[in-house]
Amino acid sequence: MKITVIGAGNVGATCAMRLLEQGLGDIVLIDIIESLAKGKAEDLMDAASIIGHNCNITGTSDYSLTEGSDIVVVTAGFARQPGMSREELLSKNASIVREVAKNIKKHSGSPIIIVVTNPLDIMAYLTYKETGFDSKRVIGMAGFLDSSRMNLMIARQLNRNVSGIDSMVMGTHGKTMVPAVSNSKVDKAKLADSLKQADIDKLAEKTKARGAEIVSYLGKGSAFYAPSAGVLKMAQAIAKDTNEILPCSSYLNGEYDIKGIYLGVPARIGTSGITEIVKLTLTKEEEKLLKEASESVQSQISSLK
Ligand code: LAC
Repeated sequence: MKITVIGAGNVGATCAMRLLEQGLGDIVLIDIIESLAKGKAEDLMDAASIIGHNCNITGTSDYSLTEGSDIVVVTAGFARQPGMSREELLSKNASIVREVAKNIKKHSGSPIIIVVTNPLDIMAYLTYKETGFDSKRVIGMAGFLDSSRMNLMIARQLNRNVSGIDSMVMGTHGKTMVPAVSNSKVDKAKLADSLKQADIDKLAEKTKARGAEIVSYLGKGSAFYAPSAGVLKMAQAIAKDTNEILPCSSYLNGEYDIKGIYLGVPARIGTSGITEIVKLTLTKEEEKLLKEASESVQSQISSLK
C-alpha cells in the first residue's frame, strides 16, 4: 500500500510511526515545513533495522509524491490548547483543510481519506465537499477513539482491564458527543447490568471531556497516542478489507433521520471505504441527543459559508 500522512506534527508523525511499524505500506509524510517532515521521516527510517520494517517513508512538502496513494490521513491544522474547545478551531482549520483537500484531489489519485483534524465532523465534511470524492471514501476518525476512552473509564470504575468492554460513542467528536449507553456492553451484557445509572452518567461526561483533560495535562497541544491508534485501526480495516464495524464520522444520507452532514455513527469499513452505515436501535433520549449533535454540525457548517 501507499499511505500519505498530511501534517508532521504529533498526530501525523505518530500515525506514520504506527503505520510503518505495522508494515502497512510505504508512507509519504507531508508538511508545509519540509524539513520537519524530512527530519521525522529520516528518523523513522533510521529505526528500520531495529524494528525490522522494510517499508519506506519520505518526508516532503511536495504533493506530487503522493500520487497513487491508497489511503490519505489528514492531520494538518492547529491543535487546541488548554481551555479551548475543538469547535474554536473551526475557521483556522477550515482554510487549511480546504487547501489540503484541493491538493489531494489534484495529486493523490482516488484514495480513501481518513480525516483527523478538528473540529472533526466539519473537517470531514469540507474534505468531502472540496475533493468531490464519493462520501464512502472520506471518513472521520473519532468515534472509535471516543469509544476506546469510554472503555477505559468503565474499566477503571469496575477495577478491571478493558478487554470485554465494548462502548459505543456516537454524535460529534465535540461538545455534542453521544455515548450510546444502550448499545455499550460489558462481557456482552448491557452496561446497565454492571453499573448504576448515576455512575454511567458520570463516566459518559468524563468521556466527553477526556480530550480536554489530556490537553490540560500536556499543557500544549492535544492527544496523539490514542488518536493515532484509531487511525491505525481504520487503516488496517481498509488495507485488510475486514469490513468490521467501527464508530466513525460518516456522511449520512437519511440514516438516523439525518441528511447531508458528517456525524459519528457505527460504520463497516473495508477496502472501498464505508460499506454500510449500521443502524442501531437507540433510546428516545439518545435519538434526541443525536439530533442535537446534527444541528450543532449543521450550524457550524453554515457559519463557514
Ligand atoms: C482528542 C483530539 C484528537 O480528542 O480531538 O484528543
